[in-house]
Amino acid sequence: MRSGQGLEGVVKVSGATKNAGLKQIAAALLAPGETVLRNLPPVGDLDVMTDLLRSIGAVVTWTGPEELRVNASGDLTPEAPYDLVTRMRASINVLGPLLARCGEARVAMPGGDNIGSRKIDMHLSGLEAMGATIEVRHGFIEAHADGLLGARHVLEFPSVGATENLLTASVGAKGSTVIENAAREPEITELAAFLNRMGAHVVGAGSSTIEIEGVDELTPAESEIIGDRIEAGTLLMACGIAGGEIELTGTRLEHLEMVVIKLGEMGMRVSPTPDGLWARAPRRLRAVDIATLPHPGFATDFMPQVTAALSVAEGAAIVTENVFDGRFQFVDELARMGADVRNEGRHAVVRGVERLSGAPVRAFDVRAGAALVLAGLAAEGETIVHDGHHIDRGYPDLAGTLRTVGADVERLES
Ligand code: UD1
Repeated sequence: MRSGQGLEGVVKVSGATKNAGLKQIAAALLAPGETVLRNLPPVGDLDVMTDLLRSIGAVVTWTGPEELRVNASGDLTPEAPYDLVTRMRASINVLGPLLARCGEARVAMPGGDNIGSRKIDMHLSGLEAMGATIEVRHGFIEAHADGLLGARHVLEFPSVGATENLLTASVGAKGSTVIENAAREPEITELAAFLNRMGAHVVGAGSSTIEIEGVDELTPAESEIIGDRIEAGTLLMACGIAGGEIELTGTRLEHLEMVVIKLGEMGMRVSPTPDGLWARAPRRLRAVDIATLPHPGFATDFMPQVTAALSVAEGAAIVTENVFDGRFQFVDELARMGADVRNEGRHAVVRGVERLSGAPVRAFDVRAGAALVLAGLAAEGETIVHDGHHIDRGYPDLAGTLRTVGADVERLES
């Protein structure tokens, strides 16, 4: 991509396939029959999830460009193989539904990945508290349960994945379950609403305490996937970096409050519209400190992009990553573009420079890749982001979306 004149125009935010859709597809395994999911644009991770569901025995069909049907009526093979789990960590989300539906599950143990160690101890201890026996053998989690029982969970950290697995395991459990210190991300609220449409009794999702009353039967439901708040925030930051004025449709201020507050402190004007957000960038952003936290804090999935924005802002900022322990690898790539970033452990000091310089760089993960694309918008000359397939895992067409608001970005075939 090359830097240009600033962004201008209206963009429709894509459906949140990666962070909301994948979880609902996994939850479809709970109900024999046909689940319909809409506003589900294809991204790389969706291919892995559909491969996984097919290998489990569900029939998965596209019935429109963004409409997927999952029929989980037949006999299921409750197994998530190693090659799929290593391609996508969200594969772990089938553990709760498979255990609930089949009484057993064998899921390859996810390892660390490019953003940190990513443990799953809370998923496993939570399921054990519900009566499951779990063994980790030869790289696989082997879980058995002769009927799960409701339990009270107090999570050590509001993990998104642990909250989702315990939620999907508990909807069909005997008795009531409480999840304290639950993750409060909007995707959890959406998953709970979807489960309730399937006949579950879940209250409190979106708050720190979720209560679930187990039901005997779940039936398939339909779902319209929410707009992707991470894509929306990425576009706001693109505007902050490149300059200009954009409007986003299909997103909601309440999903992005902390990002909007921080971008406001950086000098952007962002306000709600009937169907989304309007944003205008200042001539140059101002530096502000950022610390990531679980929702409604500043999301870790925006950390790389905001670091790219800070690298051309006026002043110096400290960025603190509190959620994942290895998420700063990408700053070395930013430095190749002339950014002045020093990282030590969970902190990075970013001293804004007037201009970055276009360079070949490498994407290590989906959000870091997006951050490098954004940095390219502020760089003199051409930037080539290698390993762009990481970006495609979560963004349906980041280059195309940025082009609609005037950015000079194209996706090169690998
Ligand atoms: C999900 C999102 C990811 C987002 C993250 C945090 C998807 C597909 N991924 O990932 O985009 O960045 O939430 O908002 O939706 N942890 C433990 N033990 C556990 C579980 C988690 O120690 O049992 C730790 C992890 O190592 C990590 C932190 O908790 O440091 C947060 O992880 P978690 O919220 O579970 O993230 P994911 O669900 O993997």
